[in-house]
Amino acid sequence: MTPIVAATAAFIEEKFQAEGSGHDWPHIRRVWQVARALAADTPGTDLEVAELAALLHDIADWKYHGGDYEAGPRAARAWLLSQQVPEATVARVEQVIREVSFKGLGVDTPVSSPEAAVVQDADRLDAIGAIGVARAFAYGEHKGRPMHDPATPPVSHADFEQYKQSTAPTINHFYEKLLHLKDRLHTPAARHLAQRRHAFMEEFVAQFLAEWEGRG
Ligand code: ADP
Ligand code: NI
Repeated sequence: MTPIVAATAAFIEEKFQAEGSGHDWPHIRRVWQVARALAADTPGTDLEVAELAALLHDIADWKYHGGDYEAGPRAARAWLLSQQVPEATVARVEQVIREVSFKGLGVDTPVSSPEAAVVQDADRLDAIGAIGVARAFAYGEHKGRPMHDPATPPVSHADFEQYKQSTAPTINHFYEKLLHLKDRLHTPAARHLAQRRHAFMEEFVAQFLAEWEGRG
């Protein structure tokens, strides 16, 4: 690990200590770890750029900054410049952060570098499986959403604005995002890791709906 990666990890761990909305340090630590593993299996990935972007990807999430989608890249830039990181590296990290987020089922989120591919994949892997289920309900609780409401069917968001404004029950999020993530991964290593997590999540939703109806 390079000194700047170590300093960034320490900075983010400290900053996210009290964060309870799903963007906690354990989430970031997992994304960092998984991004490192994916980078090792993805030729041409600059490990330092991938690690810095993984550590900084949620530094100022648009969801908590009035929908400002540049807040994250800007905050990452400020930190990296304060650490004398060269402009070329800063720009690459910023671009990865811009490309990470999911923006709605109907919105394409292409990546322009191997670093963006591994960080986007690592972030999405952390949204599925057992941890993904737990994070979805933690987020729903944080936002005061019901777990489920059969009268509110899931929708496919055609644009980012529509996706941002959704206030749907938490179960809808599985249909609107989580159950689709395995088909939107970029690296073979991530697709492999996703299989078990996806199967678990499918079973969870089926069992949840059965119990909701008093079956199962
Ligand atoms: P990520 O950190 O993977 O980019 P987000 O920032 O979109 O994910 O959200 C953080 C966590 O909260 C993720 O696990 C995500 O699935 C969950 N989440 C986001 N939006 C919703 C929602 N509308 N309902 C339930 N969970 C959500
Ligand atoms: Ni994240």
